[in-house]
Amino acid sequence: MYLCPQPTTLKLEKGMLYFPVGEMPEVKKTKPATLFEKESYRIIIDENGVLIEGADDAGLYYGELTLRQIMLNYRGCLPYLYLYDEPRYSYRGFMIDPCRHFFTVDEIKRMIDGAAYFKFNKFHFHLSDDQGFRAEIESYPLLTTVGSVRPSSNFGRGENDENPYGGYYTKKELREIVEYCKERHIEVVPEFDIPGHTTSVIAAYPELSCKGEKIEPKTCAGIFDDILCAGNDDTYKLIEAVIDELCEIFTGKYFHIGGDEAPKSRWRECEKCKKKLSDLGLHTMDELQGYMVNTFADYLKKKGKKVICWNEAIRGGNVDHDNVTVALWSEKTNKTAEWANSGNPVIAENFTPYYVDYPYGMHPLKSVYMFDPEGFKGLSSLGKASIKGVESPIWTEYVRDFDKMCYQCFPRWMAVAETGWNGAKNKNYQSFLKSAEFFCDILRGMGINPAPKKDWDVLPANRVADTVGFFKNTLTKKAIKQFLHIEE
Ligand code: ACM
Ligand code: ZN
Repeated sequence: MYLCPQPTTLKLEKGMLYFPVGEMPEVKKTKPATLFEKESYRIIIDENGVLIEGADDAGLYYGELTLRQIMLNYRGCLPYLYLYDEPRYSYRGFMIDPCRHFFTVDEIKRMIDGAAYFKFNKFHFHLSDDQGFRAEIESYPLLTTVGSVRPSSNFGRGENDENPYGGYYTKKELREIVEYCKERHIEVVPEFDIPGHTTSVIAAYPELSCKGEKIEPKTCAGIFDDILCAGNDDTYKLIEAVIDELCEIFTGKYFHIGGDEAPKSRWRECEKCKKKLSDLGLHTMDELQGYMVNTFADYLKKKGKKVICWNEAIRGGNVDHDNVTVALWSEKTNKTAEWANSGNPVIAENFTPYYVDYPYGMHPLKSVYMFDPEGFKGLSSLGKASIKGVESPIWTEYVRDFDKMCYQCFPRWMAVAETGWNGAKNKNYQSFLKSAEFFCDILRGMGINPAPKKDWDVLPANRVADTVGFFKNTLTKKAIKQFLHIEE
């Protein structure tokens, strides 16, 4: 039977339940006290009909989703069966970046539909970056009137557009997305990425950078030196105001404060940043970033929120807040392993293989499917237990439209969903492939066009060529081979 993700336990029994083709059988739903794992559910089909038992509303919702998937395998009848299902991880996330390229509310909803179908329960919405600020903030209106529009787009690889490019979500639209997700038992995790990746914020409020110079939202991909000044009280005021307004809309448990790729060159030369460092008795600029994380983790805790930050944000070694979850995307130090080994929560969002904006030649479907979120180097048994889930992002520097987004994400997000629900044990790639093919047809019916099967697992001999094409002239062939761990 084709199901995705695979259920924890499925026993087919003798006998069939018949009902009119095209109709739903009558389904009884209950929430018995015997089910206690969050999001868990049971489906029992026998001579009495169909019974879905859920531990909670999410469990009942997932039970119904699974029943619908089972029904796709049969016509006018269902086999008697017993099914019990519970997720391995409480955090099963997908991320969308509408900053590099903007996506309409309807397009975002279609992606949510696709992810919800495979039982993702967290939508990480990356609302701010160098190339555009995408959420209406009433107390700082220039964030959208100025910060949401870049003068042109020069991402390369065929895009060189001299026209201004912009877009943002109004509060009404953001609320609509939150509501849409709620109906699908998905929490929206908003991200305000600080202190780096903030060119669009500085374009709106130049006085908040160390140099105070007027700049424009970026028109190309990259990591940029101008970041928010950590020694300016007004920086903290703006961040608090954005958090306040976003928390009114995004009513879930988590808030993401970014923290990736924040070069410290400006801070090192800035009198205000140096004074702040010295006043706090800190020694390194990474510690100053850690101070910002602690500050906003505290601020958000008072609002009843948990904080997520990218793994670089804890490099200073002084993030000590019990309210912080680290999103591990690219780690060259032992900091994230130490963090997890001390019992602090981590989400596995590893560049290899979960960054689905990269080509299938680089991150083939099989590598996404086989990935073990607990396989990260240096994890103790407590460290492994600290992995709270998985997340896969679609960054959009080179994803200019909805069709390209669908191609990059599906079926790879089905593979992520499998691991999010079942962990890395008991994998069977051949069986997954059959389900993936089956559900790609269903996705097409939902207006989502996944990559064709021939692209899913690029032959090893063709992986370098596929990846060279993606990087064009930006990386040497040798560097790409190292990237892919392909020996000369
Ligand atoms: C990231 O990819 N910079 C989190
Ligand atoms: Zn500064």
